[in-house]
Amino acid sequence: MSGLLADDPTVIARLLDHIDHKTTDLSDGVWLEPTEHYTSQERFKAEITRVLRRTPTPFCPSAALPEIGSYVARDAALTPIVAMRGQDGKVRAFRNACRHRGVRLVDGAGCSKVLTCRYHAWTYGLDGQLRGVPHPHGFPGLEKSRHGLVPVTTVEKHGLVFVTQDGHSTVDADDDPIPDYFGPEWRLVSTAEQEFDFNWKIFVDGLLEGYHIRSTHAETFYPRQYDNITAVESFGRNSRVSYPYRSIEKLRDKPPAERRAVGALTQLNHLFPNVSVATFPTHMTMAVVEPLTIDRTRVVTYTLSDRDDRDAVKKGRDFVTIGTAEDREMADAIQRGLATGANEAFTFGLFEGAIRHFHQNLAAALGRT
Ligand code: FES
Ligand SMILES: [Fe+2]
Repeated sequence: MSGLLADDPTVIARLLDHIDHKTTDLSDGVWLEPTEHYTSQERFKAEITRVLRRTPTPFCPSAALPEIGSYVARDAALTPIVAMRGQDGKVRAFRNACRHRGVRLVDGAGCSKVLTCRYHAWTYGLDGQLRGVPHPHGFPGLEKSRHGLVPVTTVEKHGLVFVTQDGHSTVDADDDPIPDYFGPEWRLVSTAEQEFDFNWKIFVDGLLEGYHIRSTHAETFYPRQYDNITAVESFGRNSRVSYPYRSIEKLRDKPPAERRAVGALTQLNHLFPNVSVATFPTHMTMAVVEPLTIDRTRVVTYTLSDRDDRDAVKKGRDFVTIGTAEDREMADAIQRGLATGANEAFTFGLFEGAIRHFHQNLAAALGRT
């Protein structure tokens, strides 16, 4: 794991101590986030163009591109992007638009040796180069080498594929140190997409605190987890929130050095600005929170596992899905609450420090020119 994040025995000791003392990690201060930041069209546009497109953002897990020719196409920050694994094994991402008249080339995920435009069948290699133009005499002087797919900056590391659409970023991926999440043993189990009628940041905020476990998840997570007991860490602009399960108690009898987080807690990593990587007993998820409009959001969830027991993974995933439906209900209610104008700002308390970290860094990124 990253040097900035505590190892399993340290996190577990900290959580057991909180359980014993009925305490939790506290942030340095209360944060007031103007509600206008969730409703202003101007702010939304700035978040898309100045932050989401300029930040190296996880696009998909490496496991979604397992072989030569594998591709994943989806919109990121309102731009159609396709990532594919080339003949050389390297992942490259491109603007997903034909260089003839701009048709979106592919949708969804699959595996192919070339990409052929469905309109007039211009054909591109996995490296994005324009390979074939039917009836080429209709295009005298066309320089094929200047009509390849338009690349975006792509880096594959930590088991994730990062894409930076606009090169004006002053922040490199290396400035946000993150751990190796997925080694080669991790396989993609499923990909799910859902759309919701709330601002993307309401969803992100909801991932980052354990203050609501008892009241929101009374019959789902609360019987298995503690209310308002979390360990909160930040690494660069990212955060990790550790949520202990009641089964963590079993670890008290183990020598500290042998205590492992898997099966004893969920660790929710927020990768700035709009991605979460979360651990569960049977699987992990990578979720991308894509803003569509100021009050509409698409969440793309990749489920990965390093086990062969598919039934156990499915059960584990279904359980988590029931609990997260409750979070989405709350997010809907917050969005509707915005319309009342009752709050000029949301007050994020000392239990909500990871949310504070997110909004602080978002404000800083927006302020950067
Ligand atoms: S738009 Fe793609 S080949 Fe014409
Ligand atoms: Fe929740």
